[in-house]
Amino acid sequence: MLKIENLTKNFGKITALNNISLEINSGEFFGLLGPNGAGKTTLMNHLIGFLKADSGTITYNNKLVKFGDKQIKRKIGYVPQEIALYQELTAYQNLKIFGSLFKLSKKELSTNIDKALELVQLLDRKNSAVKEFSGGMKRRLNLAVSILQNPEVLLCDEPTVGVDPQSRNAIFEMLQQLNKQGITIIYTTHYMEEAERLCNKLAIIDNGQIVASGSLTDLLNTLDRKKTIKIIKTAETESLYDKLCEIAVVNVFDFKYEIIPNNEFQKDSQLYTYFEKIGLSSNLIEVSSASLEDVFLHLTGRRIRD
Ligand SMILES: Nc1ncnc2c1ncn2[C@@H]1O[C@H](COP(=O)(O)OP(=O)(O)OP(=O)(O)O)[C@@H](O)[C@H]1O
Ligand SMILES: [Mg+2]
Repeated sequence: MLKIENLTKNFGKITALNNISLEINSGEFFGLLGPNGAGKTTLMNHLIGFLKADSGTITYNNKLVKFGDKQIKRKIGYVPQEIALYQELTAYQNLKIFGSLFKLSKKELSTNIDKALELVQLLDRKNSAVKEFSGGMKRRLNLAVSILQNPEVLLCDEPTVGVDPQSRNAIFEMLQQLNKQGITIIYTTHYMEEAERLCNKLAIIDNGQIVASGSLTDLLNTLDRKKTIKIIKTAETESLYDKLCEIAVVNVFDFKYEIIPNNEFQKDSQLYTYFEKIGLSSNLIEVSSASLEDVFLHLTGRRIRD
């Protein structure tokens, strides 16, 4: 449905997108996961014709998406990373102004406004000024603005940054509901938990490149080990650091070491025998199932929030 082929974008000396190819199918809840500056927003801006690529193409249902494309906005809704609302106006007035850009009939616009407000659970605040809203409520209204034209695809650029847990859940529920109705969702985030919870397809983007894509299972299958081993940092384990490095790659974090054992120490029994031999207390060892976080670490050598 949405096909990105060899997309490259430079801003002066910065290569924000480096030969990106990606396909998003109808009905997917597609997660675009990457750290600050990875190129997520830049990619979204191309999908909707806000930016002009240096090279490469984007097609939507086999039709080329061009820079400045007006038609595409009827089909693809966009929830920008920055909140774009008139603070002095009410929720309803904001929706009316933004909705009028789509040239809907008066009746259709009015119906869609109420539907959108209901979906983001702000119908009872319809006539309140936006400046009186909490951060989470503004985020929700920002979302409502993006669906007034009944889009087929919704681009959401980090819609939960800085929101309280209640609004975050409301946003999740709303997006899941829209997805169930058949709307394709493309969702950028640097929260692994969100990507794991919401998305049925994922792409990991780093330094303007797609480093992996597929379902969560596909991505977890790229790991040799399906378990993560962490060792709590204490004076005792710090003194064992060199010994751990002899059998594993040791990633150092504030309170923990995370170890990726070498090939000859892949079996748990071999590892635990070694831990015992070097005198590492078992209560300082934590074993957990591998997660998307581990996939990211494995592919990029970094944590997403480093
Ligand atoms: N208009 C611009 N002019 C110059 N450089 C830009 C511009 N927009 C983005 N960049 C650069 O392109 C790179 C990718 O930025 P982008 O905003 O797409 O990242 P992002 O993945 O959305 O990051 P974040 O998670 O912080 O929102 C960054 O190095 C950024 O500084
Ligand atoms: Mg961004």
